[in-house]
Amino acid sequence: MNALSPQDLIAVIGAGAMGSGIVQVALNAGHRVALYDAAPAALAKGVASIDATYRRLLEKGKIDAATHADRTARLLPAATLADLADAALVIEAIVENLDIKASVLGEVEALLGEHAIIATNTSSLSVTAIGARLKRPAQVAGLHFFNPAPLLPLVEIVSGKATSPEVADTLFATALAWKKTPVRCASTPGFIVNRVARPFYGEALRLLADRAASAATIDAILRDAGGFRMGAFELMDLIGHDVNYAVTKSVYDALYQDPRYKPSLLQKDLVDAGWLGRKSGQGFYPYGENAVRPEPAVAPDAPRPSNIIIEGDLGVAAPLAQLARDAGLEVAVTEAAGRALLWIDGVAVALTDGRSALRRLADGDPAGVVFDLAFDYAGGSAIALAAADLAQSGALQTATGFFQALGKRVLVVEDVPGLVIMRTVAMLANEAADVVQQGVASAGDTDLAMVNGVNYPRGPLAWADLVGAATVQRVLANLAAAYGEDRYRSAPLMLRHALNGRPFHTGEPV
Ligand code: NAI
Repeated sequence: MNALSPQDLIAVIGAGAMGSGIVQVALNAGHRVALYDAAPAALAKGVASIDATYRRLLEKGKIDAATHADRTARLLPAATLADLADAALVIEAIVENLDIKASVLGEVEALLGEHAIIATNTSSLSVTAIGARLKRPAQVAGLHFFNPAPLLPLVEIVSGKATSPEVADTLFATALAWKKTPVRCASTPGFIVNRVARPFYGEALRLLADRAASAATIDAILRDAGGFRMGAFELMDLIGHDVNYAVTKSVYDALYQDPRYKPSLLQKDLVDAGWLGRKSGQGFYPYGENAVRPEPAVAPDAPRPSNIIIEGDLGVAAPLAQLARDAGLEVAVTEAAGRALLWIDGVAVALTDGRSALRRLADGDPAGVVFDLAFDYAGGSAIALAAADLAQSGALQTATGFFQALGKRVLVVEDVPGLVIMRTVAMLANEAADVVQQGVASAGDTDLAMVNGVNYPRGPLAWADLVGAATVQRVLANLAAAYGEDRYRSAPLMLRHALNGRPFHTGEPV
């Protein structure tokens, strides 16, 4: 598997945000790079932004004068498409429109050598469809960078129906040589990242729509209990609701309105209002100078409990036992097959299994209070709790006191099925399982993509391995029962791992 040589000319079409970033990646790897844009002003702006970046790096001492001179000398602004004729690889990053992309690439294809590779940076169009519009579809592939391209490591190497394996291999090796983290995937809607990430936004939006908690509380749970870099609402505000809503809608439509990807009316309302997030000064949160950021709903201090009994096996939440001992609490353990309860001063508390606490009581289960999944029970700073309407009086306060004694900030949410982290992780892993089942990407590449493309603290399938596929599948089945919706159906591969007990990853988790 050979990477392109640094002697090979790379051509980039489109000098916007993505094109100018991709140019820098190729320049940094030692290539000469021809940059073309249909709008001369856009080309000039792109070249100026690349210059400015390199000047900043020089001023900060990140590169020396010789490197600066060398890189800028290898940037070749192109006045016409004919200037790209000698390129070994053309990367297109123009407007997201199939007809325009096919027409520009058709024009450039006629000028290129027959072994030249044509790559598209499209986020949402079919690489198969773009290839089919050209004369040499075997030479066409997706090379999907993330914004900002010079900084974000992930590159999805997308094979269309007719893309030759050698072309995909060359792009993979080239991306590695460019110090990127490449993953391979098939040309399906959203590729890996933009598809698997949908539930991160979708479940948060649904929780907010169902008034499970405020946006600030849900974000705090995702960050401080879930280990995500940003909460879903602050992230959507950053991305822009117009962009995020359009991606969701495009994936939803491309997958024939599968309810799993259903867009949220809450977000559409923001788009309709022009509340696009940071860039417009208002999204879920207000921005600007005097903006007051709403606070999450943190539970007030509750008394420290004295009597802790663990009944059965707490599974992924097992570290709570040691944490409680470290906090000076006395913890007794009783064996009980099939049970997983924490008794705190006589109050039964359980890790959510996708049922609400009220549902559990109605089912004859003693747990009237449920707690959420956490990225790391030992190290995390927060935990989410919910209590059933019919929980015994003071139960929530008793459970709160326990988690506070362990040094956690307790965030209380309404008694919704699957709480916040558990349902988000279950849905992310379910989506990832379908991606693997359908041959879109391997389990390793899927997790690698989510960790490197959107900064997830742990790959969704590695997380499912930690929680146990059987638990994830039970959560999904309970969500499906609670909502009566196809949205929460288990991926066949999740069900298979739940039954055979094997992990998704057999090697080191990502
Ligand atoms: P942009 O709007 O910043 O830049 C597009 C550039 O293409 C403009 O300079 C425009 O003058 C030029 N252009 C338009 N039509 C052209 C034509 N017929 N011939 C030559 N140049 C033409 O757009 P951006 O954000 O850089 O996106 C470009 C592509 O990258 C799109 O396909 C987009 O889906 C994809 N992408 C965007 C990401 C993002 O976060 N912005 C992330 C990953 C992919």
